Amino acid sequence: MGLLPLSLSLGMATAAAVPAVPRQNQTIRWVDCHANVPQPMESVLNVTGTTFTGSLPSTLFCGEMDVPMDYTKPFESATNNITIGFAMNRPQTPSGLIIYHAGGPGLDAASQAWATALNLSSGAPFTGLEEFDFLAVNTRGIQFSNPLNCSFGVFFNNVSFAFPTSQDEYDQYQAAMTNFYTACTNNTTPQGIMAHIGTVENIQDWDSVRAALGYEKVSFAVVSYGTFVGMAYAGRFPDRVDRFVLDAVIPHGMPFQDMVTDQVAAENRLLLRADAFCLTDPTCPFHGQGNGSVVKAWDTLLAQAITAPLPALSCGAGTGCNTPVTPTDLRLGVSVLFRANPDFPQFNIALNASLHGDASLFAYEPLGDIRETIGAPLLCSDFKIDDADKTFAGFNNISINSQSSDPAGIVYSQMWQFVLMCAAWPFPVPDHTTLPTDLPLMWMTSDFDLNLPTELTTFAWGQAPNSTLVIRHGDDHTSILLAPPATRAQGIAQDFLRTGVMPSAFSDSEVTILSPGDTRGPIPGAYDVPTGAIAGDTSIVENIVAMTSASPSASPSSNSTEALRFRSALGLALAVGVAVA
Ligand SMILES: *[C@@H]1O[C@H](CO)[C@@H](O)[C@H](O)[C@H]1NC(C)=O
Ligand SMILES: *[C@@H]1O[C@H](CO)[C@@H](O)[C@H](O)[C@H]1NC(C)=O
Ligand SMILES: *[C@@H]1O[C@H](CO)[C@@H](O)[C@H](O)[C@H]1NC(C)=O
Ligand SMILES: *[C@@H]1O[C@H](CO)[C@@H](O)[C@H](O)[C@H]1NC(C)=O
Ligand SMILES: *[C@@H]1O[C@H](CO)[C@@H](O)[C@H](O)[C@H]1NC(C)=O
Ligand SMILES: *[C@@H]1O[C@H](CO)[C@@H](O)[C@H](O)[C@H]1NC(C)=O
Ligand SMILES: *[C@@H]1O[C@H](CO)[C@@H](O)[C@H](O)[C@H]1NC(C)=O
Ligand SMILES: *[C@@H]1O[C@H](CO)[C@@H](O)[C@H](O)[C@H]1NC(C)=O
Ligand SMILES: *[C@@H]1O[C@H](CO)[C@@H](O)[C@H](O)[C@H]1NC(C)=O
Ligand SMILES: *[C@@H]1O[C@H](CO)[C@@H](O)[C@H](O)[C@H]1NC(C)=O
Ligand SMILES: *[C@@H]1O[C@H](CO)[C@@H](O)[C@H](O)[C@H]1NC(C)=O
Ligand SMILES: *[C@@H]1O[C@H](CO)[C@@H](O)[C@H](O)[C@H]1NC(C)=O
Repeated sequence: MGLLPLSLSLGMATAAAVPAVPRQNQTIRWVDCHANVPQPMESVLNVTGTTFTGSLPSTLFCGEMDVPMDYTKPFESATNNITIGFAMNRPQTPSGLIIYHAGGPGLDAASQAWATALNLSSGAPFTGLEEFDFLAVNTRGIQFSNPLNCSFGVFFNNVSFAFPTSQDEYDQYQAAMTNFYTACTNNTTPQGIMAHIGTVENIQDWDSVRAALGYEKVSFAVVSYGTFVGMAYAGRFPDRVDRFVLDAVIPHGMPFQDMVTDQVAAENRLLLRADAFCLTDPTCPFHGQGNGSVVKAWDTLLAQAITAPLPALSCGAGTGCNTPVTPTDLRLGVSVLFRANPDFPQFNIALNASLHGDASLFAYEPLGDIRETIGAPLLCSDFKIDDADKTFAGFNNISINSQSSDPAGIVYSQMWQFVLMCAAWPFPVPDHTTLPTDLPLMWMTSDFDLNLPTELTTFAWGQAPNSTLVIRHGDDHTSILLAPPATRAQGIAQDFLRTGVMPSAFSDSEVTILSPGDTRGPIPGAYDVPTGAIAGDTSIVENIVAMTSASPSASPSSNSTEALRFRSALGLALAVGVAVA
């Protein structure tokens, strides 16, 4: 098969971005799933060695494919050959192909095919779609797909702060990142792979699997970071695009400065959501003190921290968390509690405890930082930092506009951290360009997503005039993966994937659907969208379903187990000590 014309710019500035030779037809090697258990499944299945000995469903398939490490050169068995791996749920007579990307970047996708085949509760987002081939390719650099051998957890140079506040700290941070990337490069085989782990390569891998399975077109169900990859695929292979659902979007070509500004605004919105939640939560320490009491508590606490760092009684040497809690730590702690599935009860308890002399719940946990995880090399392969922004002054300049949307004075955002982490990335990266499309895709967002603020999805939708936008009125990063009762958007996505019929414009208290040509209005007020289970809220400290759900039959989804699963399994580099290694 020859190359399709590159009508859309995928960032062609670097040689690495352009496949220079026609791709050869790669073939699938089917392998025994018993000996290829995805890491997240090991504890679920009680796998002790490397092999699962129980029985597996007949619809579960595992495969590998040898692909070029570097697509600018022909496949060559000895010098340009890596193996990628995937899992599938395959009915006997499939009616189409759906590809799934788990986000991260660097989260395991294969386990989703397992969960679906095994009918586990975590497979629920795709139950009802069993008539399709469900394909989950693990992205380059993680298990089954030439895993990187990086020294996770070493915490290079022992940098003890999350954001530099001086030139000297900036230099220390960059030196630590450089050491981390060098160690990955030194220890990973084959040599040279570190320069070929980006989206540009991953979409070629996916398309090779598609071709080998014999499909002309594919549908995509992708979340978080997967949306970046999904849109790259659509831009590169528009003729292959069938039904695409892109949920919680990180857009191509949006300036970092704008993403940082939007993320700081999102943090401020989440603080108001915590306040709105408190109004309905009798166990909230500030319940009964009226509207704004959580915001007031935050303002008081931040002022205290600025006067003198706050003690964290459970932290200190050997505990994994730092004491005292500096204003920077405190500000960062906000986004840790609000990201993925925000835990409002826990946040409100953390505020109360901190005001009473123990700020442990906000303390910085160095090893929970994403900077020395698989997320860093994968993300930085895709995000080009301008040379002007690779200095302390340039880094600071990225956040200047965010002050306009930061009444709570939170300052720090994960998007800003990406600029910091990626400044030291030593390999070529495609240009950061927009990827407009006329394809009729389904974009999806929630009003109060911290990881990928809703403005980012609006930006991507704005580049796609024939596309539909589904807005879920509620909290959390991603919508299609939520558990009942917050599954309206999931159902809309499933119907579209099953039928190919794009839903018409519509709006109610849970969901708004905008058709091509519609204009998105302002983001709803934090107090105007219901909180609770219907909004996807979960907590490790209380059962939100029991407390706020109107429907007593709602499934028991919102307890600690569930919350922790989401916290560690969702989305864009939320990575509270990501267990990828
Ligand atoms: C790849 O497969 C397609 C369809 O089976 C065929 O038309 C094409 O010639 C093959 N290309 C190569 C390089 O083998
Ligand atoms: C794993 O072990 C737990 C506890 O022993 C048990 O409840 C569960 O059924 C086991 N799962 C499998 C798949 O064997
Ligand atoms: C690619 O490399 C692997 C591992 O060295 C080897 O087993 C495989 O046969 C190679 N693939 C091809 C098509 O040569
Ligand atoms: C999957 O699990 C659900 C709920 O546990 C059950 O109702 C359903 O029958 C199961 N489906 C299959 C195909 O086993
Ligand atoms: C960082 O500190 C830990 C604990 O003190 C130590 O084990 C580790 O070797 C240090 N890492 C580096 C790169 O200095
Ligand atoms: C990487 O390898 C080079 C050359 O062998 C060595 O000098 C350097 O110390 C290594 N760096 C790290 C961080 O492993
Ligand atoms: C990863 O790198 C370390 C350090 O060089 C080495 O000891 C280890 O064998 C490597 N692991 C793999 C799986 O290659
Ligand atoms: C607030 O914190 C104090 C001190 O830890 C504690 O005694 C009190 O119970 C907390 N209030 C609530 C409602 O949790
Ligand atoms: C709380 O205050 C905000 C901001 O002043 C306002 O928009 C909102 O309507 C108030 N909510 C309630 C329940 O009073
Ligand atoms: C800082 O950012 C602004 C955009 O907000 C840009 O116009 C300006 O050139 C930047 N300054 C520096 C020194 O990078
Ligand atoms: C997409 O938009 C273009 C231009 O706006 C229009 O000509 C075309 O018919 C649309 N295609 C679809 C599939 O809606
Ligand atoms: C969460 O669910 C588990 C098991 O399903 C249960 O044991 C636990 O009590 C629940 N937690 C809360 C806070 O309801």
